[in-house]
Amino acid sequence: MSFVQSMDDFAKIRFTGAVYTPPVIAEALVAFVKDIIPEKNKLQILEPSVGDGAFLDELTLSFTKDQFTVVDIDSAAIKELIHRIKQPSNPVSFITKDFIEYSLPYIKNDTRPFDLIIGNPPFIRRHNFSDDFKETLDDFSKVSKYPLKDLKNSWAAFLVASARLVSNTGVVALILPYELMTVDYGQKVLQTLADEFIRIDIFVSNNKAFPDIDQDAVIFVGQKNCVTRGLYIKHVESLFDLTSPHIYKLDLDSQAGRGLEFNAFLLPKLTLNLLRELRGNCYTIEHYAGSAPGIVSAANEFFILKKSEVEALGIENYVIPILKKGSFASYKPIFSSEDFSEIEKKEPCFLLNIKDDFATLDKNLQNYIREGELKELHLRYKCRNRRNWFSVPIVPRELGFFFKRSHSFPRVCLNEAEIYLTDTSYGLRIKNGFSIKGLCYSFYNSLTLLFAETNGRFYGGGVLELSPTEFRGLPLVYHEPTLDEFTKFLLAHELARGDVEKILDFGDQWLQQKLKLSDEQMVMIRQGLTSVRNHRMRHGRRRFLIEGIV
Ligand SMILES: C[S@@+](CC[C@H](N)C(=O)[O-])C[C@H]1O[C@@H](n2cnc3c(N)ncnc32)[C@H](O)[C@@H]1O
Repeated sequence: MSFVQSMDDFAKIRFTGAVYTPPVIAEALVAFVKDIIPEKNKLQILEPSVGDGAFLDELTLSFTKDQFTVVDIDSAAIKELIHRIKQPSNPVSFITKDFIEYSLPYIKNDTRPFDLIIGNPPFIRRHNFSDDFKETLDDFSKVSKYPLKDLKNSWAAFLVASARLVSNTGVVALILPYELMTVDYGQKVLQTLADEFIRIDIFVSNNKAFPDIDQDAVIFVGQKNCVTRGLYIKHVESLFDLTSPHIYKLDLDSQAGRGLEFNAFLLPKLTLNLLRELRGNCYTIEHYAGSAPGIVSAANEFFILKKSEVEALGIENYVIPILKKGSFASYKPIFSSEDFSEIEKKEPCFLLNIKDDFATLDKNLQNYIREGELKELHLRYKCRNRRNWFSVPIVPRELGFFFKRSHSFPRVCLNEAEIYLTDTSYGLRIKNGFSIKGLCYSFYNSLTLLFAETNGRFYGGGVLELSPTEFRGLPLVYHEPTLDEFTKFLLAHELARGDVEKILDFGDQWLQQKLKLSDEQMVMIRQGLTSVRNHRMRHGRRRFLIEGIV
């Protein structure tokens, strides 16, 4: 079977979660659980989303005396499997059903029939759930008493359901997305399961589990019966080989925050202690500034026009200048009027800002709005909820902004051009006693950027994303620069031309002086940043090429 997916396959995957497991990973995981599962006469083994049977093939080789149940919502997949596995040596029950629905009666009656639940559940985001699945999740949330709002992806429901179906001596072993450790609902499910399992191991690899898709994966192994207790990260070279891991015991209640804790396996102990101490002694960005996402138009391709289009329609009085993330190509931490002049030559950067009712508008504008209606834009959820669907709510301009997503490193910029922002950026509202220049100057150093790596989340492609809350939670040592210092700061960025090392050389120098850190301590922080950043970016190229994220 080929693991190279076509674009059609990618679209299908979003709704079915059908990325089949490389047999070498199934083999490694089955070998691992074989060693830890308590001895029993006839083990009851469940694969909740069997797909093409990668695990079943391995299981039947290793667990020759045991009983299998395999479930999949896809009847074609089950039929194919029945056809392929004509005469299994062990009895297999094949079930075509939604696994969450299948789990409901067991959870209701608190029967825990399985000794081992193993597999690769589908990774389907909430906005791609079918109506049936949404309804089932609603029931599941009530029966399992697990909050519906925290079931934002199908894998989370599969994990909770598996934990409720496994026996009091059993094992759950699932391939899960890396976001288990980075998103809030992933950390919450781990917190809950940490009370239900005696021991949890999460295998994190340097190499990518599914080479041709953006999703990065980890392996979760929960044991209900074990002599050692706790939640451990096992850092391995690849998920094909689960032996000889580097092991780190997690403390979910750590004062330094869960973000740092989930990255602690990448950091030496001394660095970790130093970071915890500094984190405890620093104010966070929240102390200096508020932040809020920019404008949501609900149809950027319609509402944001090129200068030439605005001129052709003669609607100059109905537009305001706006910056889209993809347009910002400058190395500098400052967005100037000259930068905007460059962008307006070729990119759409004027947002329709219509306050009046349709009847009072120019003919050209009325015609343009009608074109939008022909494309059914007025039926989109956000547009429907406006008094006039074409009146986009405007978020005020701020003196600076931060891009929600970044590749090489996150950036705070001065809004010298006084443009508006789309929701790919957060506007920065400076609090009394501080300045946007001070915030910008104080942001670019190894300490703040390291916490940006650990507080945010990254996707399979390695794109770093921070929510407004995560951004405001970053520790920041504030320095109000003199005019001379700020000029030098801008020059350093200009000369660096996006080279993060050169930018950090500048930022770390004043940070070291300000915090009176030794050379060794400064090196520890810088190396810590390199380590977590390299881990994020370790296999990101494909995604950046597709999305043009820099
Ligand atoms: C990631 S694939 C894993 C396949 C298989 N476990 C393996 O490793 O080869 C996910 C599978 O989940 C199935 N699936 C999707 N939603 C499901 C649901 N609600 N219940 C059961 N199976 C589901 C898909 O049909 C697909 O076969």
